[in-house]
Amino acid sequence: MFDSLNLLPPDAIIGLIAEYRNDPREPKVDLGIGVYRNAAGETPVLDVVKRAERRLVDTQLTKSYIGSAGPADFNEAMRDLTFAGTVANDRVAMLQTPGGSGSLRVAAGVILRARPDATIWASDPTWANHVPLLGGAGLDLQPYTYYDAEKKALNFDGMLESLREIPKGDIVLLHTCCHNPTGIDPDEAQWRAIADVLVERGLIPFVDVAYQGFAADLDADAFVIRELAGRVPEMIVANSCSKNFGLYRDRVGALFVVTGDSSARDAVQSQANNVVRTIYSMPPDHGAAVVAMILNDDTLRADWIEELTGMRERLREMRQLLHDALLEEAPGHDFSHLVRAKGMFCFLGLSPEQVSRLKKDHAVYMVDSSRINIAGISPDNVGHIARSVATVL
Ligand code: LMR
Repeated sequence: MFDSLNLLPPDAIIGLIAEYRNDPREPKVDLGIGVYRNAAGETPVLDVVKRAERRLVDTQLTKSYIGSAGPADFNEAMRDLTFAGTVANDRVAMLQTPGGSGSLRVAAGVILRARPDATIWASDPTWANHVPLLGGAGLDLQPYTYYDAEKKALNFDGMLESLREIPKGDIVLLHTCCHNPTGIDPDEAQWRAIADVLVERGLIPFVDVAYQGFAADLDADAFVIRELAGRVPEMIVANSCSKNFGLYRDRVGALFVVTGDSSARDAVQSQANNVVRTIYSMPPDHGAAVVAMILNDDTLRADWIEELTGMRERLREMRQLLHDALLEEAPGHDFSHLVRAKGMFCFLGLSPEQVSRLKKDHAVYMVDSSRINIAGISPDNVGHIARSVATVL
C-alpha cells in the first residue's frame, strides 16, 4: 500500500531546522523558523514559566482527563487577555487547543460544519502553513491584496478594494499584529477602515493571534479584535501561546468563536468539542495549566509582562542593528522597512536565488521568500549577516 506514496520535499520552514543543525560551518546564522532567541542564540524557558511549573508540580493532584475544551480557568483568562470585556461572555464558545495550529484546525472543522462552501480569504502573502493547514482540512482559500513588495509597505488601498470584492458571508483571515511573514501591520485608523468594510460586506473575521505582546503591548496588539468584537455579530479568534509564553513544544493555544447569542454559543461549543473529539479527543494540559497559573496570579502575571517586554525590546533593537549594518555594507539599498516592521519577521526583499547563495556560500539561513526571523540576529553575528547580504546583492 505505501509503495504508492511519493517522498515529499522538506517543509519550507521546519525543514530549515535540521539543515541548519547539520551544517558544520562557523560562523552560521539561523534566521529561519520563528522562535525567539536571546543574544546568545538560545531559546530559554521563561523564568516565570519555570516558577509556575515548579508550583504546578508541587500542587497538582491529578492528571486525569479534563475534557475536549480544556480547563475553564485557562479559557477564561485567555478570553479576557484577548477581548478585555469587549464582547458578552455568553456569546463566546472557547477551547484550549494544541497550539495556534490546533486552534486553526479546529476552527476549520467548525467552519466546514457551519458553511461547507465558505471561502477563506487570506492576505497575500500569509504564514506559509495557513494554506496547507486550512486547505488540508478541506477549506477553499483565496488571496486578498496586502503587501506592496516594491514599496515594502502595506498596500492599504489595494487591500480595501480587494476586501470589497469578497462575496458576503465569506471569511477573512487577519493577523492581529506582527504580520507573518512581512511584519507590516495596519495602524489603528487603517484597522478601523478595514473593520468598516467587513461590517458593510457582512464578512466574518477570523483573526490569528500568534504574537500578542510582540508589537507594541498586550492591549494595543489586540486592537483589531476588540474593535471588531463590538461591531460584528460573529467572529473567530485563534490564539497561540507558543511565542509570548515561549511554550513552543508544549503546544498551547486557544480558540474563541463569537456567536450571535447564548444558544448559538451552546451549539457552536458542542460542535467544536465534537470536532476535537474526532481529531485528538482532548488537548495536552501541562502548558495550559502553566499559562492559567501565570495569568491568574498578580505577581507571576506582572513578571511575565516584564519578560515579554524584554523580548519585544530586543527584537526592536535587533531590527535597528541590522538596518544600520546594512546601510553601511550595502549603501544605495533601502532597508528602512526593517525598522517599520513589527515583531519577529520581515522580508529582506531578496530573490530565491540570492537566498540560496546566502545559505550555500555564507551559512546564513532564511525562508526562500527571504523572510528573516529578527530574533536570530545578535551583536556578534550582525556584521556577518550584513556583509553576506551585501555580497549576494
Ligand atoms: C514560523 O512562521 O516560523 C512559526 O510560526 C513556526 C511555524 O510553525 O511555522
